Amino acid sequence: MRIIIVGFGNLGRGICRAFIGKADFFKKAYGLIPKVVAVADECGAAVDENGLDLPRLLKTAESHGTVAKYPGGRRGKLALDLIEEVSADLVFELTPTNIKTGEPGLTHIKRAMQSGKHVITSNKGPLVVAFKELDSMARKQGVEFRYSASVGGAVPVIGLAKKLLCGNEILEIRGVLNGTTNYILSRMSAEGVPQEMIIQEAQELGLAEKDPTLDIDGIDTACKITILANSVLGIDAKLSDVKVTGIRRVTPDATRLAQEAGQTIKLVGTARRDLLEVSPKLVPQGHPLAVSGTLNAVTFKLDLAGEISITGFGAGPKETSSSLLGDLIDVHRTLGG
Ligand SMILES: NC(=O)c1ccc[n+]([C@@H]2O[C@H](COP(=O)([O-])OP(=O)(O)OC[C@H]3O[C@@H](n4cnc5c(N)ncnc54)[C@H](OP(=O)(O)O)[C@@H]3O)[C@@H](O)[C@H]2O)c1
Repeated sequence: MRIIIVGFGNLGRGICRAFIGKADFFKKAYGLIPKVVAVADECGAAVDENGLDLPRLLKTAESHGTVAKYPGGRRGKLALDLIEEVSADLVFELTPTNIKTGEPGLTHIKRAMQSGKHVITSNKGPLVVAFKELDSMARKQGVEFRYSASVGGAVPVIGLAKKLLCGNEILEIRGVLNGTTNYILSRMSAEGVPQEMIIQEAQELGLAEKDPTLDIDGIDTACKITILANSVLGIDAKLSDVKVTGIRRVTPDATRLAQEAGQTIKLVGTARRDLLEVSPKLVPQGHPLAVSGTLNAVTFKLDLAGEISITGFGAGPKETSSSLLGDLIDVHRTLGG
């Protein structure tokens, strides 16, 4: 399968490492031979119609900070042109999330679909801004569109819901879907220290963004709830439909009192037909949603199966490549591979 990767940061590099390390496995288990023919970052692109040398590409990106320095690479070459010009089956869209405009990912995805290419993305921006439009564009163009990594990182929330639980009516989805806030709340609860101190330490450890507002104020979780509402519950929901309260008002005292009562405070996103919400909630200790550290967890309430919960790593290049590759193999199988 001929592949273009747009965005060569943590995830773009993570998936290339997986392509290198698991090439034999993909071939033997699925008859899948991924060939990366073009890669773009913000500075430029590297193209080889015969397949890029992935170890060399990774080395170039790591030492020069851009793929444009790959032999024959093109500084200033736009991802959009690449998507149109290079012959490929599938585009991985892995650029930064912009929840206001969805760009640059939104246009990348549309252009890929319009040129008959399948799309896999981890980028929440386009999904939050234009889920329905992209979903129907994919159908119209006859291309596959997957976005498992956009919610839950490595945790197969969307795949489980759409594939394995499809005999059920999904009554409710509740999830701890933001690793940064979960790390902060877990440490507040364990150590009784104020939020600001933990945020600063989390930033130093690279566990929180320089500007952690979207996490702390619950917006990141609300984006994931919007995506789940659209993709799993089939609701035409906008981000503004989600009632959002972040964790700023959670104090060390509140976490202590919760603990004394056998509970823990979690930032929980809820998606139901009659409610889209994100807010700090009391969760009984020992409940599947009472995960600590940067873990994510999701509980589905179903008409037949009752409750089913899953947990795992919500971020990280190696972990998230699990979902990106799952999508790739799923597309490969759907196409009859
Ligand atoms: N990291 C995770 O664990 C994780 C998990 C789930 C979902 N996600 C989502 O997945 C996406 C990628 O995450 P990441 O961690 O890999 O991000 P990242 O490390 O910031 O990498 C983003 C890449 O996109 C490139 N880029 C920016 N604007 C571009 C443009 N106009 N054209 C082409 N390339 C462009 C950047 O290029 P430069 O380096 O040249 O600026 C960089 O290579 C984000 O939307 C993120 O929210 C991430």
